[in-house]
Amino acid sequence: MEHDPLWYKDAIIYELHVKAFFDGTGDGIGDFQGLIEKLDYLQDLGINCIWLLPFYQSPLKDDGYDISDYRTILPDYGTMKDFKRFVREAHKRDIRVLIELVINHTSDQHLWFQEARQSKKSKKRKFYVWTDEPANKNKAARIIFMDSESSNWAWDPVSKQYYWHRFFSHQPDLNYDNPIVRRTMLNVLTYWLNTGVDGFRLDAVPYLFEREGTNCENLPETHEYLKDLRRSLDKKYNHKVLLAEANQWPKDVCSYFGEGDECHMAFHFPLMPRIFMGLRKEDSTPIIEIMGQTPEIPENCQWAIFLRNHDELTLEMVTEDERDFMYSEYAQHPKAKLNLGIRHRLAPLINKGRRQLELLHSILFTMPGSPIIYYGDELGMGDNVYLGDRNGVRTPMQWTGDRNAGFSKADTAQLYAPLVVDPVYGYQAINVEAQKRTPTSLLNWMKKFISIRKKYKAFGRGSLKFVKTSNPKILCYLREYEDETLLIANNLSRYVQPAELDLRQFKNRLPMELVGGVCFPKIGDLPYFLTFSPHAFYWFQLMKVEEPGEIAAEAVEKAAQAVHVSTKISGTTGRRKKKRATQREIKTKANLSSRHKSG
Ligand code: NOJ
Repeated sequence: MEHDPLWYKDAIIYELHVKAFFDGTGDGIGDFQGLIEKLDYLQDLGINCIWLLPFYQSPLKDDGYDISDYRTILPDYGTMKDFKRFVREAHKRDIRVLIELVINHTSDQHLWFQEARQSKKSKKRKFYVWTDEPANKNKAARIIFMDSESSNWAWDPVSKQYYWHRFFSHQPDLNYDNPIVRRTMLNVLTYWLNTGVDGFRLDAVPYLFEREGTNCENLPETHEYLKDLRRSLDKKYNHKVLLAEANQWPKDVCSYFGEGDECHMAFHFPLMPRIFMGLRKEDSTPIIEIMGQTPEIPENCQWAIFLRNHDELTLEMVTEDERDFMYSEYAQHPKAKLNLGIRHRLAPLINKGRRQLELLHSILFTMPGSPIIYYGDELGMGDNVYLGDRNGVRTPMQWTGDRNAGFSKADTAQLYAPLVVDPVYGYQAINVEAQKRTPTSLLNWMKKFISIRKKYKAFGRGSLKFVKTSNPKILCYLREYEDETLLIANNLSRYVQPAELDLRQFKNRLPMELVGGVCFPKIGDLPYFLTFSPHAFYWFQLMKVEEPGEIAAEAVEKAAQAVHVSTKISGTTGRRKKKRATQREIKTKANLSSRHKSG
């Protein structure tokens, strides 16, 4: 694998659950053996990093986020040997592996908690946070799982005290004021780093410490501890990454980067709902505003951006009016709401609108940060809101139209969760096999755009500057890095739109569209005029034309690569012919454009 300490800036992350991906042993539950068999699929898709949801020993009351042993793999998913083989096989394919580390809490089944509750004198007692008087303690801390919990304190009938928990009551929070807890969790981190993984998603990271009179989030003590983790990581290992799950406002999330000495990455939670708002309001303002509130981050840090994940589409980081708007637009089904969010997968949120799906991915792939694709969303998989909690977005991956969607050879009744079988999103309609052989499928579209994104470092590393347009329905921005200047323009409207862009500073540059390598007219003195079909978008590179020969050569090279991608997908022969034709076309266009004064 490439030895680049900033590899995570160019990452395209695929989030998956081992249990949901592929069942290699035929017991109805996905496992590491199955995942290894499907690595070629992921490599072919073009992703270069996998984020694995929790796979540790667990009673699975919160789908593995309730860990009962940090050093053991849930036997349903395989053995440590299988896990290590998976990491090796992923690395062979240039795919990095991020794993989940739930450091804020354990399961109440964890031996630490079992021991702690037996006796107040037990050594493990201080691993957790206890009180006799819950009514007055940490009152300012909000309840996160508000549909299931009414307090952050739960009564333990065994030790006859209350214990602190930020999530489900079966997930007691660890006590980070105890230095032994701090050390123990550091050892857990080291244990997994020694298996070869490339980093961790740190679950629920804002809640590690509690302090009276605060909301118990983002406390200075939490940041100090994370910096400690980072120091230990950097001392012994190279190029490992910490990704903070901090569902907070931009300023607070930024504190998890420290001065570039805390977490390498953090999710941009507030951006996500604003992409969906922008789409339905047909207005770029929510996206521009939230990015305006996002401080610059240290050079060595990176956002992790996403459209959907394994949880409900969270609406914690929006105002009440915005939340009402989101519910009215995206949560029509009576069962769609959960906690402060919406439990739908991506495709059902937008009623399977293909143009909207493409537009949303255009934004995801071009805004600052490393994009995350949630398994199955590359196919437009559906969900099942009747399964309770967030299980409806965690159903088996749909590989084929055969029995059990090709996911497992077990009896259908044995599957860990029912398959999606409705006529619109069911596995007979939506599956990998069918989409592989359909050149125009979403899967092939994703593959093509991932491959284009990977050719330009500016997407992962470049600066962001919004471009003034005459039309607020057009979300337009520049991504600049070294000698790459990319111009992205997205039409958030369902209707055709015109827009004039203020590109004066790029006078004489030649916009080359990145998919087909087609050059547009040169930028002149007047506003640059573009027209868009509904939900359409453009990705351009703004080429310098002072040296037409060189530019044409570069354009030819990039376009040839683009042609290569599309010919591979459509499976046609005659690739060379097509390439030569494109080269001719670009040369002609470059020559024409350098003579042509636009505006
Ligand atoms: C955040 C995770 O994404 C979610 O799935 C989990 O339930 C909570 N943290 C508690 O661990």
